[in-house]
Amino acid sequence: MIKHIIAAVVTLLAAWAMFLVYQSDKEVNKLEEIQKMIKKTQVKVNLGNTESVTQESAATEKASSESVEKEQAKKKQELDEKLQALKNKAGNVAAFKVSPLYKQKCASCHGVNGEGIIGPKLIGDSSEKIHQALLEFKSGKRKNYVMYGLLSKMDEGQLKELSDEIGTFEQKLQEMQK
Ligand code: HEC
Repeated sequence: MIKHIIAAVVTLLAAWAMFLVYQSDKEVNKLEEIQKMIKKTQVKVNLGNTESVTQESAATEKASSESVEKEQAKKKQELDEKLQALKNKAGNVAAFKVSPLYKQKCASCHGVNGEGIIGPKLIGDSSEKIHQALLEFKSGKRKNYVMYGLLSKMDEGQLKELSDEIGTFEQKLQEMQK
């Protein structure tokens, strides 16, 4: 009888022990799961961080490219305004009369009164300086396709005429402003 009781108790104990082992296994599993979960969240957190970092740099890049665009737009506007001002200037608002030859051949680039647009300002230069420049452009000594192409179709007499005229621009302007 007692043997049976002992056997029963042992069996119970064994069952209990098995249950405990099973429980602790579960605990261990749980722990592992929790660790895995923690790892996962860590990875997520890390990813989140790097993502936010890249987003940040992308944002700053975007911002800088935006500011570059803004600056470019501003510069373009400034240039447009300058061009418009020059066009207005060139738009036959002459302070003094110029020869038809100058008006036709030179004014488009150097301005109606030699104030300069695409080409440099000519007003204020002496006739000698202008003549020298024209001769050098025509001979090719001074290289400029625009001026060379233009002057190649003009004769020496015209160059002299124009030089003499442009040399008087400054004086003419001063007389107009009196
Ligand atoms: C299509 C535009 C254009 C036309 C039209 C033009 N020029 Fe020019 N000219 C220029 C440019 C651009 C320069 C600057 C060239 C350089 O410095 O290499 C220049 C330079 C000059 C220079 C030298 C000025 C300096 O300060 O160095 C003189 C002088 C001149 N041009 C006279 C004339 C005369 C006179 C005419 C008319 C017959 C004329 N140009 C027509 C574009 C033009």
